[in-house]
Amino acid sequence: MIAELLPSLLAATQEAALACRPWVGRGDGKAADAAAVAALRDMLAHCQGRGTVVVGEGEKDAAPMLYVGERVGAGGLPAFDLAVDPLENTTACARAGEGAVAVLAAAPARTLWASPAWYVDKLVVPTESAGAVDIRWPVERNLAAVAEARGKRVDELVAVVLDKPRHAELVMRLRANDVAVALIPDGDVLGALRVVLPDGDADILLGVGGAPEGVISACTVRVLGGGMQVRLAPQSHDEAARLVAAGQVPDAVLGLDELVASDDCAVAITGITGCGLLRAPRRNGAAWTTESIGLASGRPVLHVDADHLPRLPERSPACLTS
Ligand code: FBP
Repeated sequence: MIAELLPSLLAATQEAALACRPWVGRGDGKAADAAAVAALRDMLAHCQGRGTVVVGEGEKDAAPMLYVGERVGAGGLPAFDLAVDPLENTTACARAGEGAVAVLAAAPARTLWASPAWYVDKLVVPTESAGAVDIRWPVERNLAAVAEARGKRVDELVAVVLDKPRHAELVMRLRANDVAVALIPDGDVLGALRVVLPDGDADILLGVGGAPEGVISACTVRVLGGGMQVRLAPQSHDEAARLVAAGQVPDAVLGLDELVASDDCAVAITGITGCGLLRAPRRNGAAWTTESIGLASGRPVLHVDADHLPRLPERSPACLTS
């Protein structure tokens, strides 16, 4: 059972968040990401089972660690696929903004969508609307379907959308229907979580975001029982050419079963900078307390506060680079 990996996944995202902490607000997202990747990789070496990174930091040539195809785990069962985002929302970490998190998602081997796509158009809805929507429909039809399934009026819906110029028309149409638009500068993994958590404050997530983040979101949707579809949405000629070379149709639509072909998933998310869902690591005497959400199929949503004693004397980022 992949659910049994959850404690190891949580331990790993907690360490990644702690590794990022000295970099918060220092303007160097790459250094923060490198620290998170190294911490996550160390922890994953001790994780039970044999994992393969399917969604990772990039291809082997470009990413020295946690690259797509990298093997992790201490061996034995289960065999699992892993989607890693050691620092989701790099900008928020660099600028001490809201909603940077460390995220890991696991599912049985060969069940996560492996694609060279960088961007996909996403549609995420809560459980009761799953099956009532279609990403190929006009947005107005999907809004009406979600409102009906949730027993609300359309003007009571909240839609999460990444605040990007490409979404100007989408936002205009949502507002024309009197839908409240929660515009987030970055971080659509947490955006999707706001839709599918049982006490989530949003009704639908729409728009184009990262494909790797899409696979991670799909794992959260699988565990929590919502609905999700994506449509390939290459944002450059290069990306479109990569898709064609990989035999993928540039505007193909994928459902939840194609993104994650199993109900047996686990997802660990730890806050790096604070937001409505998760707090940043905070000092607690000599220790640091991290706050995480743990999701595993068939289990209740876990909210985990964990104390960590420092292993090394506190050092400034300047020391860390020397
Ligand atoms: P990073 O952690 O790689 O910075 O990703 C943040 C993010 O906002 C994702 O949550 C989102 O899916 C993607 O970037 C959107 O990409 P872009 O900023 O290029 O539109």
